[in-house]
Formats: sequence, C-alpha cells, structure tokens
Amino acid sequence: MLTAIRVHEQIGQWLQRAYMAQQPQEMVITLVSSACCNLSALAYVPERFPVGEGLVYAGYQKTHCDVITAMTLFQDKKPGRYLGAMLFRFEQADGAPGFEALLVSAWDEHDNDLTLACVPAAFTQPWLTFEAECNRIVNTAAAYRDQVYIVGGMTRSFETSIDLEDVYLPAGLKTSIINDVDSFFDQGVAIYRELNLKPFRKLLLAGVPGTGKTMLCGALARRALARGHFVIYVSGSNIAGSEFWKIHQALDIASRSNTPTLVLVEELDAYLKGDSKAQMLNVLDGSETPFNPQGTLLIATTNHPEQIDNRVMKRPGRLDRIFIIPELQDEDDARAMLQKYLGKAWRADHAEIVPRLLGRPGAFVREVAVYALTMAAYQHQRELTLATLVESLESLIAQIEAKDNFLTVHKERVMGLIPSRRGGNGSRE
Ligand SMILES: Nc1ncnc2c1ncn2[C@@H]1O[C@H](COP(=O)(O)OP(=O)(O)OP(=O)(O)O)[C@@H](O)[C@H]1O
Ligand SMILES: [Mg+2]
Repeated sequence: MLTAIRVHEQIGQWLQRAYMAQQPQEMVITLVSSACCNLSALAYVPERFPVGEGLVYAGYQKTHCDVITAMTLFQDKKPGRYLGAMLFRFEQADGAPGFEALLVSAWDEHDNDLTLACVPAAFTQPWLTFEAECNRIVNTAAAYRDQVYIVGGMTRSFETSIDLEDVYLPAGLKTSIINDVDSFFDQGVAIYRELNLKPFRKLLLAGVPGTGKTMLCGALARRALARGHFVIYVSGSNIAGSEFWKIHQALDIASRSNTPTLVLVEELDAYLKGDSKAQMLNVLDGSETPFNPQGTLLIATTNHPEQIDNRVMKRPGRLDRIFIIPELQDEDDARAMLQKYLGKAWRADHAEIVPRLLGRPGAFVREVAVYALTMAAYQHQRELTLATLVESLESLIAQIEAKDNFLTVHKERVMGLIPSRRGGNGSRE
C-alpha cells in the first residue's frame, strides 16, 4: 500500500535534489524556528547584523520551491509568516562572500509549523545566532514597537491617540503622575541599579468607574511610545480571562525588550484570585519578576482597592504609589470638560450646570453632553439651549438614582429585608 509522503520528507527530498546536490561543501538540514520566516520580524533585523566569526547578515530573497505553494500570512495588516522558500545571505564584514542558507517553511499534515533550513555544516553557529535574533524579535514583539502590544487580548496591538491634555484631572495630581513616570525612566532606573535593586516600579490608579483611568493609561502609553519606550497592555479579553500568567508573560517580554517598558494592567483586582494571589505577591515585590535592565514601570488600575490584599496595598515595595483618581472636584475642571465635550455647541450660559457636575465622574459629563447634543439635533435646534442641557443632566441623574434604588431594593428584598410584592402580602405564593 502506498502511504503519503510526509511534508518534512517532501521538503527534505526537494532540498537535497534541488539545492544540496549543487553545493560544493558539506550541508546539513536542520529544523528551525518559524521566526526566521516572519516577514515583520525580518524587517527588524538590523542591516549587517553580526552573526559571529566575522560574518554579517546580508538579506534574503524569496525563491521558488516545487513542493510548496508560496503564500504570505498577514497579521494586523502587516505581512507576517511566509510559507515557501527563502534564500538567506551572509557576508564577511568587509563584503567578501560568506555563505548562504536555503529555508523552506510549510505546515505539516497536522497544521503544525514546519521550517527546515539547509545550512553549510561549517556555518551552523552563525546561522544559529541569526535564528536566535529572529526569535528574540518575535518574542519581544519588536515588530509592534510603534503601537501598544497586547498580551492576552483578541488582537495583537492597538494604536492610541489620546492626548494627556484631554484628560481632566486636578492639576497637582496630573503633574505628580507624569513626574513619577518621567523620573523613573529618566533617573530612577539608574538609581535602582546603583542600589542593586531591580528597576521595577509599580503604580496603582484607583477610583470609581468613569473617572478617566483607562483614558489616562492610553495617554501615558502614547507619551511613552513617542519617547521610544515599549508599551505592553495586559488584556483580560481573550478566552483565558484575567489570568495571572498574562502579567508574568508581559513582564517577561519587558525583560527581553532592551528598552524601557511600560506595562499596563487594567482591573488588577480581577487578577488577584485564588492561587494567583501568592504568586502575584512575589511578582510585585520583585522576587519572581524577570529583570529588565532598562526598567519596567507597571501601571495598574482598579475600582476596588478594598479587594486588593492588604499585603499588596500596605506593604511598601509591592505597590510603590497609589493615586486616587477622583470624581470632578473643581469647577474650572468641570467647565473645561463640559466645554470640550460640547465642542462647537458650547455657549457661556451652559456653565450654569457646572456646579451640578461636581462629585460626578468624567464619563457622566461626557454622557450629559452627548445626550444633550443628540436631543438638540433631534429637535432641530440651531443652538443647544440651556434647557436641553439641563434636561439631559436631570434625565441622567434620574436614571442613576432609579438604578441605585432598584439595586438597593432588590438587594434588600433578596436579603429578606423587604417583602416580595408578588404575594400581595409579602408571603410567597
Ligand atoms: N478625567 C477625565 N477627563 C476627560 N474625560 C474623561 C475623564 N474621565 C472620564 N472621561 C470620559 O469618560 C470616558 C470613560 O472614562 P474611562 O474609561 O477612562 O474611565 P475609567 O476610570 O477607566 O472607568 P472604569 O473604572 O469603569 O474602567 C472616557 O472615554 C472619557 O470620554
Ligand atoms: Mg477603565
């Protein structure tokens, strides 16, 4: 009975027939990492990257292979994995010929990555150095350096356009956060190293929902990227949810990044459950944190600081600073925010509602503005009237109060404090 020839065998036979047979020197076929045929990663291998023994990488070209249909896989709109054959060239540092290696990449019959390279036996070490660099680039996500790299999310990266100017916070608070971030990266890393400490700083942004924590993280991420730092966002959005290993993975990637790195973890409390708590303590105090000589700054957010263990909250060194991100406290901030969200529709008399915005989160102001603008458009108002703005404000307050009442009554009913209406007299039917 004829059995199908396995993919690696087909490639191996093709390499021997079409390539090895013509080579004057002894060649070896080796199984290599698919990072070597990741086109985005290859774009990040520096020109003339030294691979040892006086040799440098001198580029690659795609070439024909009889047994594999060439194809490019795109990831996040960038060319990613290449399937097919590629010829890699290495030269002496002075430009004299070095060696070539022919690589063929495919999937095997179980859809596993299968990448074989045919390399001169005498040059396996330089080849392995090159392969290690491709691997390092893929594993440190260097191909995503211009964007926020996501660990544990549904996509690989995202762009952020939020400006710090657009985040309204009490002026002193905003400055202290920015100073903390800048002083760590500018001077702190060297000081930590001098003191023989891991340059790893951790900040927590705590506050009720909608005060701008996520927005602030986005703005800090944009700022960090503009300064050439690497930014990693730990996401709970893929099927694994908020799992501790994601934070560890992010810190691990940071440690290999060769760059100051900002790691963002939203809703830190969700990651602190069960067994992960103890591991998290060790990671936060640095004992199990992969070391990034360039410095890693972790910024976490939470709505529930009370759910974060006292061992984390109260022990200095686990979370270095906690910043409370408050609801609006200041009339000037509230006016500025309202004005921003009303945009061109803003009129001086709208400022009348400003005192009623105090004590509310930024998300509230945005909703008041957006709903008012929608109502005005629906009613064909040429200008947004104060009356419509007030109506929007009051309807949102009424909605929040109704929800609070419902939740309180519901909770009390569940706890047996208020009799259920269903039985008419409070008894169950
Ligand atoms: N301080 C602020 N300055 C400007 N806009 C704000 C501010 N706070 C909230 N907003 C507006 O409300 C939206 C929601 O805010 P954001 O998601 O940043 O809140 P959050 O604190 O992360 O909330 P949660 O704790 O629920 O995650 C923002 O996209 C922005 O439009
Ligand atoms: Mg948020």
